[in-house]
Amino acid sequence: MSPRKFGRLTIPIVYMAARLLVFVISPLSSSSAARPMISNPRALLTGILLGLTAFAQAFVLRNLTLSLDPRQMLDQHPFVPEGSNDLRGPCPGMNLLANHNYISHNGIANVDNSLTACLQAFNGGLDLCILVVSFGFAYAASPVDFPLLTYSIGGPPPRSGGPLGGITGTFTSRACHAVGLSGTHNQFESDSSATRCDLDECGDNHTVDLRAFKALLDLVESGDPTQTVDIIIQQHVNQRRHSIANNPYYFHGPVQMILSGATTLVTAPFFADYSEEHPDGYFTIDTLCSLFGVQRYPNGTPVLMPGGPRFPAGWRPRSTPVNLISDVVANLIKMWTAYPETIQIGGNLGTINSFFGLDISDFTNGVYTAASLIEGDNAACFVYQVSQQLMPAAVKNVEDTVYALLESTFDSAGGLFPSLVCPELAGVKTEMLEKYPGYTRSMN
Ligand code: HEM
Repeated sequence: MSPRKFGRLTIPIVYMAARLLVFVISPLSSSSAARPMISNPRALLTGILLGLTAFAQAFVLRNLTLSLDPRQMLDQHPFVPEGSNDLRGPCPGMNLLANHNYISHNGIANVDNSLTACLQAFNGGLDLCILVVSFGFAYAASPVDFPLLTYSIGGPPPRSGGPLGGITGTFTSRACHAVGLSGTHNQFESDSSATRCDLDECGDNHTVDLRAFKALLDLVESGDPTQTVDIIIQQHVNQRRHSIANNPYYFHGPVQMILSGATTLVTAPFFADYSEEHPDGYFTIDTLCSLFGVQRYPNGTPVLMPGGPRFPAGWRPRSTPVNLISDVVANLIKMWTAYPETIQIGGNLGTINSFFGLDISDFTNGVYTAASLIEGDNAACFVYQVSQQLMPAAVKNVEDTVYALLESTFDSAGGLFPSLVCPELAGVKTEMLEKYPGYTRSMN
């Protein structure tokens, strides 16, 4: 297989480097019109932090212009069992990356190594990797984490003397309350995941839920394992129905509809086996068990595997990158079309089986309808626009600097989707979500 090249990244790199220059130079400029940030220390700090971020991104992306072969990289990253002090969380991908030292084994990742690992180990597309790393960092980190761009892939970082060492560890948990990915419930981490239990059903939203995992294995065993997307769609539908019937606070808001659907659906392209006979991928029980850190007794009963998840010997990612639009959004549309219930925004109202649907048309002031979401570029536009509208307001314990980072990241990411034709979305009616206890609880 020929090495993967990222020559087309020249433009974003130049763009980001230019941003860095602008942010660093602007406070020094003598023209007041040209330097609106200087009178506002917070904005100045934001500018510097954004400059650092842009620099970090440019650094990573520049490195990727060198040759890169994700199918060879895995051999250089042997499995190291996770220890009791290592942080692990709701994302099986990040847990694997930590166990194979693509990111720090203690579970404190940073933006750079997450992005690189997402691209290298899983052959994630640049658009998908930038988006997921940005969301993860923005939700899981706190302002104190900005200089190092670090965040925990599990719970809050230790108070002190932990993975980050004294000062940063102390500040992130005590003063600024970095929550880690596990603490992003109904912000990033969502209900009805493929292999995790809902927080309000089990009190644990990050460990593999053996009931859900067994249900997934049953689908693989009883179905056609080459139909990986269909299997994972069915798992999502089943998990959603399970949540409605068992979690009084089940919430499937616009962001959750996208995130829980998308994170579930990436299981197919990311965690399938790819061989010459099955270049489109197929699920095997052994591979899924290994990647999710599960083993089975001879009678089929699953238990958690000591040491945690690992890439099975010889496992290779898909040979073509897993992209946001052609994989994730395309599969979301496939699911929404086959199972319209999955496109229904809403949630339970405090008791089980009390699901109340929200009108997408009303919510978006008539710009989108459930039916129009599956037309043209609308699904991708909806993901992009609603995220911009809702994500910043939904981020807990994070101040203006993070909002600015989010906006900047979306600006950068926006450059990756130049061909989208989107209807204008001036605003959404956030207040319509307040009737759902799952939504309001996540904001507290
Ligand atoms: C690097 C490649 C990645 C892979 C292969 C991957 C894979 C997955 C998969 C398969 C799931 C679904 C798990 C389930 O529903 O049971 C998931 C969930 C999740 N991922 Fe990742 N992921 C990756 C990167 C990331 C990154 C960079 C972040 C954030 C920094 C992230 C954050 C999450 C979170 C928070 C969830 C939980 C979603 C939920 O519970 O609804 N992932 N990921």
